[in-house]
Amino acid sequence: MPDSSISKFFEKSRKERLDVIKNFANLSEDDIKSLELPDGGITFDKADKMVENAFGTFSLPLGVATNFKINNKDYLVPMVIEEPSVIAAASKAAKLARSKGGFNVVADESYSIGQIQVLDTDIDDSISKIKENTQEILELANSKSNTLSKMGKGAKEITCKKLDTDFEPMLIVELLIDVGDAMGANVTNTMCEGVAPLIEKLTRGKTLLRILSNYSTRRMVKATAIFDKESVGGEEVVDNMIHAYQFAKHDVYRAVTHNKGIMNGIIAVANATGQDSRAIEAAANAYASRSGQYRSLSEWNKDSDGNLVGTLEIPLSVGIVGGIINVHPVAKICTKILSAESAKEMSCIITATGLAQNFSAMRALATDGIQKGHMRLHARNLASAAGASTEQIDKIVSQMIEENNISVNRAKELLEQN
Ligand code: MEV
Repeated sequence: MPDSSISKFFEKSRKERLDVIKNFANLSEDDIKSLELPDGGITFDKADKMVENAFGTFSLPLGVATNFKINNKDYLVPMVIEEPSVIAAASKAAKLARSKGGFNVVADESYSIGQIQVLDTDIDDSISKIKENTQEILELANSKSNTLSKMGKGAKEITCKKLDTDFEPMLIVELLIDVGDAMGANVTNTMCEGVAPLIEKLTRGKTLLRILSNYSTRRMVKATAIFDKESVGGEEVVDNMIHAYQFAKHDVYRAVTHNKGIMNGIIAVANATGQDSRAIEAAANAYASRSGQYRSLSEWNKDSDGNLVGTLEIPLSVGIVGGIINVHPVAKICTKILSAESAKEMSCIITATGLAQNFSAMRALATDGIQKGHMRLHARNLASAAGASTEQIDKIVSQMIEENNISVNRAKELLEQN
Protein backbone atom coordinates (compact mmCIF):
# COMPACT_ATOMS: atom_id res chain seq x y z
CA MET A 1 0.00 0.00 0.00
CA PRO A 2 1.50 3.42 -0.91
CA ASP A 3 2.67 5.64 1.93
CA SER A 4 1.51 9.26 1.89
CA SER A 5 4.08 10.48 4.44
CA ILE A 6 6.50 11.98 1.97
CA SER A 7 9.17 14.02 3.63
CA LYS A 8 10.11 17.47 2.35
CA PHE A 9 7.54 17.31 -0.44
CA PHE A 10 7.51 21.12 -0.48
CA GLU A 11 11.20 21.22 -1.35
CA LYS A 12 10.73 19.19 -4.53
CA SER A 13 10.52 20.70 -7.99
CA ARG A 14 7.20 20.63 -9.84
CA LYS A 15 8.41 17.70 -11.93
CA GLU A 16 9.48 15.75 -8.83
CA ARG A 17 6.14 16.45 -7.15
CA LEU A 18 4.27 15.24 -10.21
CA ASP A 19 6.44 12.10 -10.28
CA VAL A 20 5.60 11.34 -6.65
CA ILE A 21 1.89 11.80 -7.30
CA LYS A 22 2.07 9.77 -10.52
CA ASN A 23 3.69 6.84 -8.75
CA PHE A 24 1.44 7.09 -5.72
CA ALA A 25 -1.78 7.12 -7.73
CA ASN A 26 -0.74 5.22 -10.86
CA LEU A 27 -1.48 8.18 -13.08
CA SER A 28 -0.94 7.87 -16.83
CA GLU A 29 1.30 10.06 -18.99
CA ASP A 30 -1.88 11.65 -20.34
CA ASP A 31 -3.02 12.50 -16.81
CA ILE A 32 0.31 14.22 -16.19
CA LYS A 33 0.01 16.14 -19.46
CA SER A 34 -3.45 17.35 -18.42
CA LEU A 35 -2.08 18.45 -15.05
CA GLU A 36 0.66 20.40 -16.81
CA LEU A 37 -1.64 22.26 -19.20
CA PRO A 38 -1.43 26.03 -18.71
CA ASP A 39 -5.21 26.60 -18.65
CA GLY A 40 -5.68 24.51 -15.49
CA GLY A 41 -7.79 21.89 -17.16
CA ILE A 42 -10.64 23.35 -19.15
CA THR A 43 -10.46 25.04 -22.49
CA PHE A 44 -12.58 28.02 -23.33
CA ASP A 45 -14.74 25.84 -25.56
CA LYS A 46 -15.63 23.65 -22.60
CA ALA A 47 -16.24 26.65 -20.36
CA ASP A 48 -18.53 28.10 -22.99
CA LYS A 49 -20.66 24.96 -22.90
CA MET A 50 -20.74 24.87 -19.11
CA VAL A 51 -22.07 28.35 -18.33
CA GLU A 52 -23.75 31.24 -20.07
CA ASN A 53 -21.96 34.33 -21.35
CA ALA A 54 -18.53 32.78 -20.76
CA PHE A 55 -15.55 34.89 -21.77
CA GLY A 56 -12.68 33.01 -20.14
CA THR A 57 -11.55 30.51 -17.57
CA PHE A 58 -10.13 31.18 -14.12
CA SER A 59 -7.41 29.12 -12.46
CA LEU A 60 -6.38 28.69 -8.85
CA PRO A 61 -3.43 26.87 -7.26
CA LEU A 62 -3.74 23.09 -7.03
CA GLY A 63 -1.58 21.48 -4.35
CA VAL A 64 -1.56 18.25 -2.45
CA ALA A 65 -1.64 17.56 1.29
CA THR A 66 0.61 14.71 2.36
CA ASN A 67 0.56 12.31 5.33
CA PHE A 68 -3.13 11.49 5.38
CA LYS A 69 -4.14 8.12 6.77
CA ILE A 70 -7.91 7.68 6.85
CA ASN A 71 -9.54 4.42 7.92
CA ASN A 72 -6.12 2.78 7.53
CA LYS A 73 -5.62 3.87 3.94
CA ASP A 74 -3.02 6.43 2.88
CA TYR A 75 -4.02 9.39 0.75
CA LEU A 76 -2.40 12.30 -1.00
CA VAL A 77 -5.18 14.86 -0.84
CA PRO A 78 -5.49 17.34 -3.73
CA MET A 79 -6.58 20.82 -2.66
CA VAL A 80 -7.54 23.85 -4.74
CA ILE A 81 -7.15 27.01 -2.67
CA GLU A 82 -5.72 30.49 -3.01
CA GLU A 83 -4.81 30.91 0.67
CA PRO A 84 -1.23 30.20 1.79
CA SER A 85 -0.60 27.89 4.79
CA VAL A 86 -3.73 25.80 4.35
CA ILE A 87 -2.12 22.85 2.54
CA ALA A 88 0.91 22.91 4.83
CA ALA A 89 -1.39 23.01 7.86
CA ALA A 90 -3.45 20.03 6.66
CA SER A 91 -0.29 18.03 5.97
CA LYS A 92 1.14 18.83 9.38
CA ALA A 93 -2.03 17.82 11.23
CA ALA A 94 -2.26 14.61 9.20
CA LYS A 95 1.35 13.84 10.13
CA LEU A 96 0.65 14.30 13.85
CA ALA A 97 -2.53 12.22 13.65
CA ARG A 98 -0.62 9.25 12.20
CA SER A 99 1.00 8.25 15.49
CA LYS A 100 -2.44 7.38 16.89
CA GLY A 101 -3.66 5.69 13.72
CA GLY A 102 -4.74 8.65 11.60
CA PHE A 103 -8.37 9.59 11.01
CA ASN A 104 -11.25 7.31 11.74
CA VAL A 105 -14.27 8.26 9.69
CA VAL A 106 -17.75 6.79 9.40
CA ALA A 107 -20.29 7.86 6.82
CA ASP A 108 -23.95 7.13 6.07
CA GLU A 109 -25.00 5.67 2.76
CA SER A 110 -25.68 8.39 0.17
CA TYR A 111 -29.37 9.19 0.58
CA SER A 112 -30.59 12.44 -0.88
CA ILE A 113 -33.80 14.18 0.15
CA GLY A 114 -36.21 15.57 -2.45
CA GLN A 115 -39.02 17.89 -1.40
CA ILE A 116 -42.41 18.40 -3.00
CA GLN A 117 -44.51 21.27 -1.72
CA VAL A 118 -48.28 20.69 -1.88
CA LEU A 119 -50.80 23.54 -1.51
CA ASP A 120 -54.59 23.72 -1.34
CA THR A 121 -55.14 20.30 0.12
CA ASP A 122 -56.66 18.60 3.13
CA ILE A 123 -53.36 17.76 4.79
CA ASP A 124 -54.40 14.87 7.07
CA ASP A 125 -56.38 13.18 4.31
CA SER A 126 -53.51 13.67 1.84
CA ILE A 127 -50.99 12.16 4.25
CA SER A 128 -53.10 8.97 4.52
CA LYS A 129 -53.52 8.83 0.71
CA ILE A 130 -49.78 9.16 0.22
CA LYS A 131 -49.10 6.48 2.83
CA GLU A 132 -51.56 4.10 1.15
CA ASN A 133 -49.95 4.70 -2.24
CA THR A 134 -46.30 4.80 -1.21
CA GLN A 135 -45.38 1.85 -3.40
CA GLU A 136 -46.89 3.38 -6.52
CA ILE A 137 -45.12 6.70 -5.90
CA LEU A 138 -41.76 4.96 -5.33
CA GLU A 139 -42.20 2.91 -8.52
CA LEU A 140 -42.98 6.02 -10.52
CA ALA A 141 -39.95 7.80 -9.05
CA ASN A 142 -37.70 4.86 -9.83
CA SER A 143 -38.95 4.63 -13.41
CA LYS A 144 -37.14 7.95 -13.91
CA SER A 145 -33.70 6.42 -13.37
CA ASN A 146 -32.78 3.11 -14.97
CA THR A 147 -29.23 3.45 -13.74
CA LEU A 148 -30.15 3.64 -10.06
CA SER A 149 -32.89 1.01 -10.42
CA LYS A 150 -30.48 -1.46 -12.02
CA MET A 151 -28.12 -1.04 -9.07
CA GLY A 152 -30.93 -1.65 -6.57
CA LYS A 153 -30.72 1.98 -5.53
CA GLY A 154 -33.16 4.83 -6.11
CA ALA A 155 -36.19 6.14 -4.20
CA LYS A 156 -36.67 4.15 -1.00
CA GLU A 157 -38.97 6.02 1.36
CA ILE A 158 -41.56 8.75 1.45
CA THR A 159 -42.34 10.94 4.42
CA CYS A 160 -44.86 13.72 4.85
CA LYS A 161 -44.93 16.73 7.10
CA LYS A 162 -47.40 19.47 7.84
CA LEU A 163 -45.64 22.81 7.72
CA ASP A 164 -47.01 25.84 9.51
CA THR A 165 -46.41 29.02 7.55
CA ASP A 166 -47.43 32.68 7.68
CA PHE A 167 -50.54 31.66 5.74
CA GLU A 168 -52.32 28.29 5.56
CA PRO A 169 -50.33 25.22 6.68
CA MET A 170 -48.91 23.29 3.72
CA LEU A 171 -48.00 19.70 3.06
CA ILE A 172 -44.39 18.77 2.32
CA VAL A 173 -43.77 15.35 0.81
CA GLU A 174 -40.19 14.12 1.01
CA LEU A 175 -38.60 11.45 -1.17
CA LEU A 176 -35.61 9.65 0.25
CA ILE A 177 -33.36 8.46 -2.56
CA ASP A 178 -30.28 6.27 -2.47
CA VAL A 179 -28.18 8.05 -5.10
CA GLY A 180 -25.19 5.72 -4.88
CA ASP A 181 -21.93 7.34 -5.93
CA ALA A 182 -23.43 10.49 -7.41
CA MET A 183 -24.03 13.77 -5.65
CA GLY A 184 -27.53 13.17 -6.92
CA ALA A 185 -29.04 16.62 -7.40
CA ASN A 186 -30.22 15.95 -10.97
CA VAL A 187 -31.78 12.58 -10.34
CA THR A 188 -33.47 13.86 -7.18
CA ASN A 189 -34.98 16.82 -9.01
CA THR A 190 -36.08 14.59 -11.90
CA MET A 191 -37.80 12.18 -9.51
CA CYS A 192 -39.52 14.99 -7.60
CA GLU A 193 -40.84 16.50 -10.82
CA GLY A 194 -41.75 13.03 -12.11
CA VAL A 195 -43.97 12.09 -9.16
CA ALA A 196 -45.60 15.52 -8.72
CA PRO A 197 -48.58 14.80 -11.03
CA LEU A 198 -49.34 11.59 -9.09
CA ILE A 199 -49.06 13.50 -5.80
CA GLU A 200 -51.50 16.08 -7.17
CA LYS A 201 -53.91 13.32 -8.19
CA LEU A 202 -53.74 11.66 -4.77
CA THR A 203 -53.97 14.85 -2.72
CA ARG A 204 -56.23 16.81 -5.09
CA GLY A 205 -53.87 19.66 -4.24
CA LYS A 206 -51.41 21.72 -6.25
CA THR A 207 -47.69 20.98 -6.20
CA LEU A 208 -45.38 23.97 -6.32
CA LEU A 209 -41.67 23.44 -5.56
CA ARG A 210 -40.17 20.06 -6.49
CA ILE A 211 -36.52 20.13 -5.58
CA LEU A 212 -33.60 18.51 -3.75
CA SER A 213 -32.91 19.65 -0.20
CA ASN A 214 -29.25 20.52 0.25
CA TYR A 215 -29.60 19.90 3.98
CA SER A 216 -28.29 16.39 3.50
CA THR A 217 -28.89 15.00 6.97
CA ARG A 218 -29.13 11.46 5.59
CA ARG A 219 -25.52 11.74 4.41
CA MET A 220 -23.82 12.38 7.73
CA VAL A 221 -20.09 11.89 8.10
CA LYS A 222 -18.17 11.76 11.37
CA ALA A 223 -14.38 11.99 11.53
CA THR A 224 -12.36 11.43 14.71
CA ALA A 225 -8.64 11.74 15.35
CA ILE A 226 -6.48 11.47 18.44
CA PHE A 227 -3.45 13.71 18.68
CA ASP A 228 -0.72 12.59 21.02
CA LYS A 229 -0.39 15.20 23.78
CA GLU A 230 3.41 15.40 23.52
CA SER A 231 3.42 15.97 19.79
CA VAL A 232 0.68 18.59 20.16
CA GLY A 233 3.08 20.48 22.44
CA GLY A 234 2.30 19.16 25.91
CA GLU A 235 -0.53 19.38 28.40
CA GLU A 236 -0.76 23.14 28.42
CA VAL A 237 -1.18 23.37 24.66
CA VAL A 238 -3.84 20.64 24.76
CA ASP A 239 -5.70 22.54 27.50
CA ASN A 240 -5.42 25.80 25.60
CA MET A 241 -6.80 24.16 22.47
CA ILE A 242 -9.77 22.91 24.46
CA HIS A 243 -10.31 26.45 25.75
CA ALA A 244 -10.17 27.61 22.13
CA TYR A 245 -12.85 25.07 21.25
CA GLN A 246 -15.04 26.18 24.16
CA PHE A 247 -14.83 29.73 22.84
CA ALA A 248 -16.07 28.52 19.43
CA LYS A 249 -18.76 26.37 20.99
CA HIS A 250 -20.30 29.24 22.91
CA ASP A 251 -19.66 32.38 20.88
CA VAL A 252 -21.10 32.78 17.41
CA TYR A 253 -18.48 35.31 16.32
CA ARG A 254 -15.72 32.85 17.11
CA ALA A 255 -17.71 29.85 15.83
CA VAL A 256 -18.01 31.32 12.34
CA THR A 257 -14.24 31.78 12.11
CA HIS A 258 -13.53 28.38 13.62
CA ASN A 259 -15.87 26.78 11.07
CA LYS A 260 -14.32 28.85 8.30
CA GLY A 261 -11.03 27.15 9.15
CA ILE A 262 -12.76 23.76 8.79
CA MET A 263 -14.15 24.89 5.45
CA ASN A 264 -10.64 25.83 4.29
CA GLY A 265 -9.97 22.10 4.21
CA ILE A 266 -13.37 20.88 3.09
CA ILE A 267 -13.88 23.32 0.24
CA ALA A 268 -10.32 22.99 -1.04
CA VAL A 269 -10.76 19.23 -1.55
CA ALA A 270 -14.31 19.75 -2.80
CA ASN A 271 -13.03 22.19 -5.43
CA ALA A 272 -10.22 19.90 -6.50
CA THR A 273 -12.64 17.02 -7.00
CA GLY A 274 -15.41 19.00 -8.67
CA GLN A 275 -18.00 18.95 -5.90
CA ASP A 276 -20.80 21.46 -5.40
CA SER A 277 -19.10 23.53 -2.72
CA ARG A 278 -22.11 25.84 -2.26
CA ALA A 279 -24.26 22.87 -1.30
CA ILE A 280 -21.62 21.69 1.16
CA GLU A 281 -21.32 25.14 2.79
CA ALA A 282 -25.08 25.64 3.03
CA ALA A 283 -25.63 22.26 4.69
CA ALA A 284 -22.73 22.69 7.11
CA ASN A 285 -23.96 26.11 8.21
CA ALA A 286 -27.46 24.80 8.83
CA TYR A 287 -26.02 21.91 10.82
CA ALA A 288 -23.90 24.28 12.90
CA SER A 289 -27.16 25.99 13.91
CA ARG A 290 -29.14 22.86 14.70
CA SER A 291 -29.37 23.59 18.44
CA GLY A 292 -30.86 27.01 17.76
CA GLN A 293 -27.50 28.69 18.19
CA TYR A 294 -24.74 28.62 15.56
CA ARG A 295 -21.85 26.66 17.09
CA SER A 296 -18.54 25.01 16.32
CA LEU A 297 -18.95 22.09 13.91
CA SER A 298 -16.11 20.20 15.58
CA GLU A 299 -15.66 19.07 19.18
CA TRP A 300 -12.39 18.84 21.07
CA ASN A 301 -11.77 16.97 24.32
CA LYS A 302 -9.09 14.96 26.11
CA ASP A 303 -8.91 11.20 26.45
CA SER A 304 -7.99 9.51 29.74
CA ASP A 305 -4.28 9.82 28.86
CA GLY A 306 -4.55 13.53 28.23
CA ASN A 307 -4.32 13.23 24.44
CA LEU A 308 -6.37 15.63 22.35
CA VAL A 309 -9.39 14.07 20.66
CA GLY A 310 -11.17 15.88 17.84
CA THR A 311 -14.40 14.99 16.07
CA LEU A 312 -16.09 16.64 13.16
CA GLU A 313 -19.60 15.66 12.16
CA ILE A 314 -21.28 17.22 9.14
CA PRO A 315 -23.92 16.50 6.54
CA LEU A 316 -21.95 16.09 3.31
CA SER A 317 -23.26 15.48 -0.14
CA VAL A 318 -20.55 14.59 -2.65
CA GLY A 319 -20.11 12.32 -5.65
CA ILE A 320 -17.45 10.53 -7.63
CA VAL A 321 -19.53 10.07 -10.78
CA GLY A 322 -21.54 12.52 -12.85
CA GLY A 323 -21.53 16.28 -12.71
CA ILE A 324 -18.38 18.25 -13.38
CA ILE A 325 -16.13 15.18 -12.99
CA ASN A 326 -17.25 14.14 -16.49
CA VAL A 327 -16.28 17.48 -17.92
CA HIS A 328 -13.25 18.73 -16.03
CA PRO A 329 -10.14 16.60 -16.64
CA VAL A 330 -8.30 17.94 -13.59
CA ALA A 331 -11.22 17.23 -11.25
CA LYS A 332 -11.26 13.72 -12.71
CA ILE A 333 -7.53 13.25 -12.11
CA CYS A 334 -7.80 14.62 -8.57
CA THR A 335 -10.52 12.04 -7.91
CA LYS A 336 -8.17 9.42 -9.33
CA ILE A 337 -5.35 10.61 -7.05
CA LEU A 338 -7.66 9.93 -4.11
CA SER A 339 -8.60 6.53 -5.54
CA ALA A 340 -11.94 6.89 -3.76
CA GLU A 341 -14.08 3.91 -4.70
CA SER A 342 -17.36 5.42 -3.54
CA ALA A 343 -18.99 8.74 -2.75
CA LYS A 344 -18.94 7.58 0.84
CA GLU A 345 -15.15 7.23 0.77
CA MET A 346 -14.86 10.67 -0.81
CA SER A 347 -16.97 12.14 1.99
CA CYS A 348 -14.66 10.51 4.57
CA ILE A 349 -11.58 12.09 2.97
CA ILE A 350 -13.16 15.52 2.78
CA THR A 351 -14.33 15.45 6.39
CA ALA A 352 -10.93 14.25 7.65
CA THR A 353 -9.29 17.16 5.81
CA GLY A 354 -11.69 19.58 7.50
CA LEU A 355 -10.78 18.18 10.91
CA ALA A 356 -7.06 18.31 10.12
CA GLN A 357 -7.36 21.93 9.08
CA ASN A 358 -9.26 22.81 12.22
CA PHE A 359 -6.61 21.15 14.39
CA SER A 360 -3.78 23.12 12.82
CA ALA A 361 -5.60 26.44 13.00
CA MET A 362 -6.48 25.90 16.68
CA ARG A 363 -2.96 24.79 17.53
CA ALA A 364 -1.43 27.82 15.87
CA LEU A 365 -3.94 30.15 17.52
CA ALA A 366 -3.46 28.60 20.95
CA THR A 367 0.36 28.87 20.70
CA ASP A 368 2.27 31.31 18.46
CA GLY A 369 -0.72 32.82 16.65
CA ILE A 370 -1.21 32.25 12.94
CA GLN A 371 0.79 35.20 11.66
CA LYS A 372 4.16 33.52 12.23
CA GLY A 373 3.48 30.72 9.75
CA HIS A 374 1.69 33.09 7.40
CA MET A 375 4.60 35.52 7.46
CA ARG A 376 7.10 32.83 6.49
CA LEU A 377 4.98 31.92 3.49
CA HIS A 378 4.35 35.55 2.69
CA ALA A 379 8.11 36.17 2.86
CA ARG A 380 8.70 33.27 0.47
CA ASN A 381 6.24 34.75 -2.00
CA LEU A 382 7.89 38.15 -1.76
CA ALA A 383 11.38 36.70 -2.16
CA SER A 384 10.24 34.83 -5.22
CA ALA A 385 8.53 37.98 -6.60
CA ALA A 386 11.84 39.83 -6.08
CA GLY A 387 13.49 37.26 -8.36
CA ALA A 388 15.15 34.90 -5.85
CA SER A 389 16.00 31.45 -7.19
CA THR A 390 14.92 28.29 -5.35
CA GLU A 391 18.39 28.06 -3.80
CA GLN A 392 18.34 31.71 -2.63
CA ILE A 393 14.81 31.80 -1.20
CA ASP A 394 15.40 30.15 2.20
CA LYS A 395 18.30 32.43 3.11
CA ILE A 396 16.46 35.61 2.12
CA VAL A 397 13.30 34.54 3.93
CA SER A 398 15.18 33.75 7.16
CA GLN A 399 16.96 37.07 7.04
CA MET A 400 13.79 39.08 6.43
CA ILE A 401 12.07 37.29 9.33
CA GLU A 402 15.04 37.84 11.64
CA GLU A 403 15.07 41.53 10.79
CA ASN A 404 11.28 41.69 11.02
CA ASN A 405 11.38 43.52 7.73
CA ILE A 406 9.36 41.56 5.20
CA SER A 407 8.88 43.38 1.95
CA VAL A 408 9.64 42.97 -1.69
CA ASN A 409 12.09 45.90 -1.53
CA ARG A 410 14.07 44.30 1.30
CA ALA A 411 14.07 41.01 -0.62
CA LYS A 412 15.52 42.84 -3.65
CA GLU A 413 18.20 44.51 -1.50
CA LEU A 414 19.19 41.18 0.05
CA LEU A 415 19.32 39.60 -3.40
CA GLU A 416 21.73 42.27 -4.57
CA GLN A 417 23.94 41.70 -1.53
CA ASN A 418 24.04 37.92 -2.04
C1 MEV B 1 -8.00 31.44 8.28
O1 MEV B 1 -8.31 31.20 6.94
C2 MEV B 1 -8.70 30.43 9.16
C3 MEV B 1 -8.56 30.66 10.66
O2 MEV B 1 -9.00 31.98 10.98
C4 MEV B 1 -9.43 29.64 11.35
C5 MEV B 1 -9.57 29.84 12.82
O3 MEV B 1 -9.49 30.98 13.30
O4 MEV B 1 -9.81 28.81 13.50
C6 MEV B 1 -7.13 30.56 11.12
